[in-house]
Amino acid sequence: MAASPRAFVLRHTHLRPVPGLEEVRLHLADEALPLWHAAQIETGDPDAALPYWAFAWAGGLAIGRYVREHPEAVAGRRVFDLASGSGLCAIAALHAGASAVTGADIDDFAAAAIALNARANARRITVAHRDVLDDDPPEVDVILAGDCWYDARLAERVLPWLHRAQDRGIDVLMGDPGRRYLPTNDLVELASYDVRTTTELEDLERKRAGVYAFAEAGRRNR
Ligand SMILES: C[S@@+](CC[C@H](N)C(=O)[O-])C[C@H]1O[C@@H](n2cnc3c(N)ncnc32)[C@H](O)[C@@H]1O
Repeated sequence: MAASPRAFVLRHTHLRPVPGLEEVRLHLADEALPLWHAAQIETGDPDAALPYWAFAWAGGLAIGRYVREHPEAVAGRRVFDLASGSGLCAIAALHAGASAVTGADIDDFAAAAIALNARANARRITVAHRDVLDDDPPEVDVILAGDCWYDARLAERVLPWLHRAQDRGIDVLMGDPGRRYLPTNDLVELASYDVRTTTELEDLERKRAGVYAFAEAGRRNR
């Protein structure tokens, strides 16, 4: 592992406003591949994870827009940001008035980035730097899951975990631009946004990304 994930994040990113969510400032990178190679060298691990934490993903951008438009979804509530990456959804929830926010990610650089980005936005985020999908869902009011459906094995674990959370009365909001493993049959779309990402990550500079809840939750609340 890197001597200092924090120093690595600072060395390879620039602090700047997020397009379309300018109130949120993140340490962001311009290019994915050179940064990935730098992470492989830094960690000595050729299988180092992609630097997800250095970008604002389309799913997270949609959640950010949603909580800005619907602050009542998180205001005064305890929020858990699953697969937090940069901490984008966590910071957006705090801007919208969340009372306490935890950002969870397995990646060492992500844990450092969440802490740095919280500080850059003068907000407090508790970082859960572990695989929380092995735990029971946390004692919170809302779980945000931004861009979690890009990998089959991750999706297989995220779906039952989020269902368990929903069954315990936790509101679950998922943001996604229509990735392969999004469980569309299980969801209702609450809103959709045109978000600006980067062709470093996506085929197009602009993407349509939705915010979803479980369909059963929608039926229960009707
Ligand atoms: C595509 S990024 C999304 C980041 C952020 N939510 C956003 O929308 O910008 C997915 C993130 O999930 C994290 N991740 C993967 N498996 C995880 C797990 N089991 N628990 C927590 N985070 C995980 C990755 O490290 C990565 O930071």
